[in-house]
Amino acid sequence: MVKDLFERIQKNKGPLGKWASQAEGYYVFPKLEGELANRMQFHGKEIINWSINDYLGLANHPEVRKADTEAAAQYGAAYPMGARMMSGHTALHEQLERELAEFVMKESAYLLNFGYQGMVSIIDALVTKNDIIVYDVDAHACIIDGVRLHMGKRFTYRHNDIESMEKNLQRATKMAEETGGGILFITEGVFGMRGQQGKLREIVAMKQKYNFRLLVDDAHGFGTLGKTGAGAGEEQGVQEDIDVYFSTFAKSMANIGAFVAADKEIIDYLKYNLRSQMFAKALPMIQTVGSLKRLELLRNHPELKDKLWENVNALQNGLRERGFNIGDTNTCVTPVYLEGSVPTAMMLINDLRENYNIFLAIVIYPVIPKGIILLRMIPTASHTMKDIEETLVAFEQIREKLENGTYEKWAAERTVDVSEER
Ligand SMILES: Cc1ncc(COP(=O)(O)O)c(C=O)c1O
Repeated sequence: MVKDLFERIQKNKGPLGKWASQAEGYYVFPKLEGELANRMQFHGKEIINWSINDYLGLANHPEVRKADTEAAAQYGAAYPMGARMMSGHTALHEQLERELAEFVMKESAYLLNFGYQGMVSIIDALVTKNDIIVYDVDAHACIIDGVRLHMGKRFTYRHNDIESMEKNLQRATKMAEETGGGILFITEGVFGMRGQQGKLREIVAMKQKYNFRLLVDDAHGFGTLGKTGAGAGEEQGVQEDIDVYFSTFAKSMANIGAFVAADKEIIDYLKYNLRSQMFAKALPMIQTVGSLKRLELLRNHPELKDKLWENVNALQNGLRERGFNIGDTNTCVTPVYLEGSVPTAMMLINDLRENYNIFLAIVIYPVIPKGIILLRMIPTASHTMKDIEETLVAFEQIREKLENGTYEKWAAERTVDVSEER
């Protein structure tokens, strides 16, 4: 007898879903209310918000709000109807593509409705079963899912580890010589959890020895790194050696959508082969027009990036001076590594939110090794020195409580079972 497909789902909610009854509404799916800003409302109380990726503070910028509103009034939410290829193509989509390409120093660009699906399709379109993919083991889920579609061989290398990259490039080279295919190397420009830049300079240098093409997901680098804000490639002086550059609008651009940029020949190919765009309705006009405005501000107001970095430096230096381990971040992403169990981490987050009015993201096992608590903060241009100072004071106090066993005691007293074995 065939069993009911839903039987498994009823029993097993998945690695995160199993926490839903205890975590939903607070630790996961929290509702941040009020205007998008450095301070928002959580459970009816003002909190300092270190959890939204609005790096340049554009989300609520008056000119951005005006552009979005005017685009909504002029075009509505539906415009244009249909996929770009069929009936959803406009001059404004093309204009945004031209401006993005120029900004990231590539010949051509193509818009994507979402970064996630876009990346899946980019990988799918770039390789055939004879090609080999080499990618970082810590790559974002959209890269992993793109690689899942690949019918040929793939190799992961240890996170940002040059030796491991080279070893896997050697393997890939050997295999590609047998299959007659090529090699696609994929990394992130900035790893969004721990904040390290991908080692683009070193990867590019390996092009001297190995024949591969480089695809970079620069979601956190675009707008935040490099002299002009063109991202991790510009920061490391190798932007022109990135063969296919990708970024989302979900972070510095404070919008929905994404783009891919490369030589014209490659973009022309992707336009006709990116399944996530060919078989999906075009990016709406509100996002297209809104992104033109955001890009204009991003290009013409370097003071936004300067302010962002002033805040990043104040927060990261303040944490380092107080002896916190912030790992080897060299970007705006600010992790703080502490030690403790999952229940302890939950108590710590509770305390931060309830007693110190600080809202930040927490990453725990199984995303990182057991016993480590990663608190991740995203400073933005709209944070203030007061936000930073209050946060640093709070961190000193929570560390003391963590070390003197307060959170462990609270966790033990709690009636709800939050043991990680469940
Ligand atoms: C590294 C990285 N790549 C891709 C994406 C997906 O982009 P989008 O939100 O536009 O789907 C994200 C998250 O936004 C990301 O952090």
